[in-house]
Amino acid sequence: MRVLSGIQPSGSFHIGNYFAMMKKMIEYQESQELFAFIANLHAMTSLPKGDVLRTNTREAAAGFLSLGLDPDKSVFWVQSDVLEVTELTWALSNLTPMGLLERCHSYKDKVAKGIGANHGLFAYPVLMAADILLYQSERVPVGKDQKQHLEVARDIAIKFNNDFGETFVVPEAEIDEDVAIIPGTDGQKMSKSYGNTIDIFCSKKQLKKQVMGIVTDSTPVEAPKDPDKCNLFAVAALFLSEDEKKDLAERYRAGGLGYGEVKKDLLERVWNFFAPYREERDALLEDEDRLNGILKKGADKAREVALKTINDVRKRTGIQYWV
Ligand code: TRP
Repeated sequence: MRVLSGIQPSGSFHIGNYFAMMKKMIEYQESQELFAFIANLHAMTSLPKGDVLRTNTREAAAGFLSLGLDPDKSVFWVQSDVLEVTELTWALSNLTPMGLLERCHSYKDKVAKGIGANHGLFAYPVLMAADILLYQSERVPVGKDQKQHLEVARDIAIKFNNDFGETFVVPEAEIDEDVAIIPGTDGQKMSKSYGNTIDIFCSKKQLKKQVMGIVTDSTPVEAPKDPDKCNLFAVAALFLSEDEKKDLAERYRAGGLGYGEVKKDLLERVWNFFAPYREERDALLEDEDRLNGILKKGADKAREVALKTINDVRKRTGIQYWV
C-alpha cells in the first residue's frame, strides 16, 4: 500500500510531532511503500523569513532522518524539490469550487486568530490535495485536524476523474482515533502555535524550562493524586514501560509523591531518549554534502512518480498541445 504524509518545517520538532506522526511513519517504512516529505511550501503560508524557512527546512529534514526515517526504505524529499506539485495545484484549482474551500475550518480558524487572509492560506488545501494526488497515494495518515483537508482532496480527485477520465487514485484518510492527543505543558493539545511544546532537539537548559513548566494542580505533596487527570502523568507515560506506568500510577494514588520529583525524572528520560538522535542530527547538519545528497536522491525518486502523473494531467487537460 502506498502511504504518504507530510510535515511542516515550522521550527523545532516537539514530542507531539514525534508520537503522533513521525514515529508512525518510521514504523510504516518497514511494511508499506512510504512517501514522506517536508512541506516547506505549506510553511510559506505562515510567512517566515527566507533564511528562517531555509534553516527550518534543513533542520526538519535532518531531524526526521536522525529519528530513523530511512531514505533507502522510503521516498523522502523536500516538497519544493518536485515543483510539479505547484503545477498540479493550478490544474486542480480550476475544478475546486470556492465553497469547498470557504468551508474549511483550518482557514477560518487561522483568519479568526488574526492571521492575514491571503490566497496561499485559502489555497492551502488544494496544494495539499496536489501533494497527495501527484504521488497516487492510497492512504494518508493524518491527525483529526486534517480530516477535512483529506475530504477536499478526495472530492477534487473524484471530480477530476469524472471530468477528464481516470487519472488519480482516490486517497483514503487514516485517522487514528486512539492516538491520544499529546498534551502540551499547559494541558491543551501540544502545538507550536500555542507555545506549549516540549522540544526534541533543544538544549538541556531549554528542555528543563519546558518540563518544569508543565502545569499541574496544587494538590499538596502528601495528598493522593489522580494520574488520569494529570497532564504531567500523560506526558511521562509516553516515556515509561507498561510496568513503570503502573508503578507511577500507584505512587500517585498513594500520596507522598511531589510533582517536582516526577518532572525531574521526566526531564532525564526525555533528554536520554532523544540523545542519540540529537547527535545524529547535529552530524547531518554539519555534513552539508551528505544531507544534500540524501535529499537530492529522495527528490529524484519522488520526481519519477510525479512526472508520470503530471504528464498524464498535461495530456488530459490539453496543456500538452504539441503533437
Ligand atoms: N497540512 C499538514 C499538516 O499541517 C501537512 C501536509 C502537507 C500534509 N501536505 C500534506 C499531510 C499531504 C498529509 C498529506 O499537518
